[in-house]
Amino acid sequence: MKKILLLCIPLLFCNTYTHTRKTDRYAIVIGATSGIGRELAKILSKHKYIVGITGRRAALLTSLQKELPAKSYVQTMDVAQPEKAMRQLENLIDQMGGLDLIVLNAGVAFVDPELDWQKEKQMIDVNVSGFTALASVAINYFIKQEHGHFVGISSIGALRGHWYSPVYNATKAYVSLFMDGIRTKVNKDGYPITITDIQPGFIETEMTQGQQGMFWQVSAHEAAEQIYAAIVSKSDHAYVAKKWRVVGWAMKYLPDWLYNLVDC
Ligand SMILES: NC(=O)c1ccc[n+]([C@@H]2O[C@H](COP(=O)([O-])OP(=O)(O)OC[C@H]3O[C@@H](n4cnc5c(N)ncnc54)[C@H](OP(=O)(O)O)[C@@H]3O)[C@@H](O)[C@H]2O)c1
Repeated sequence: MKKILLLCIPLLFCNTYTHTRKTDRYAIVIGATSGIGRELAKILSKHKYIVGITGRRAALLTSLQKELPAKSYVQTMDVAQPEKAMRQLENLIDQMGGLDLIVLNAGVAFVDPELDWQKEKQMIDVNVSGFTALASVAINYFIKQEHGHFVGISSIGALRGHWYSPVYNATKAYVSLFMDGIRTKVNKDGYPITITDIQPGFIETEMTQGQQGMFWQVSAHEAAEQIYAAIVSKSDHAYVAKKWRVVGWAMKYLPDWLYNLVDC
């Protein structure tokens, strides 16, 4: 009898371990120091995700970590240095011990009607090169483990060009089309991987501080709640806030003469 009990002890540990591994959920938010990413990291942590948070501003990552109710990991990262950022993401996944969900939120936007190359380069480096580099790490990881959820924060601006910042809209069009392409790839190959394209309208964050002409704006927290809902429902696409679907429709279908009349 004693022998049987002794034999059962490792099994008990084994079950506890398996149970923990099965129920733990791991999420990484790229660009979690402020705005939408910061709020989303808090919501994911509240819903018991083990969260990895990244960004350039280390002090903001540390202060966020103190606010998170569940276990979290911090990685300072500049996505405009894509090769280094890729290695840092791989290390972060290793440290955390898994990845089920990644939110590629880091982005920069400049008003740029004068086509200033320094601004354009920053937007391309972060929104296009950085995005693609980190997406490749995450998608390949998900393909290998045969599951995962990839969320990219694009913009309503992805739907049509605009004089206000032609490059910003173009970078976000890239982000949305990239995700479209990846979705067809994982569907074709039969992987249970979800790709969610988030297209926000105006959100009150550092990015839009002082910006004129905003309408239908919501707080970063409200935006993050709606993004979380899209994550839970495994949506392919979501406008944030939801009512921006009307603007989305107009941006897609208005003929140029009418779009140019409405749009100033
Ligand atoms: N606010 C809006 O109205 C709106 C509308 C449509 C789409 N979006 C998109 O939503 C996303 C979040 O923006 P937000 O409005 O929340 O603005 P935000 O408060 O300025 O947040 C931007 C986040 O991106 C990170 N980031 C920027 N450059 C980075 C870099 N080189 N390396 C690593 N991280 C970087 C920032 O972290 P660090 O500065 O610490 O690096 C910060 O955490 C962006 O992709 C943006 O394009 C926003």
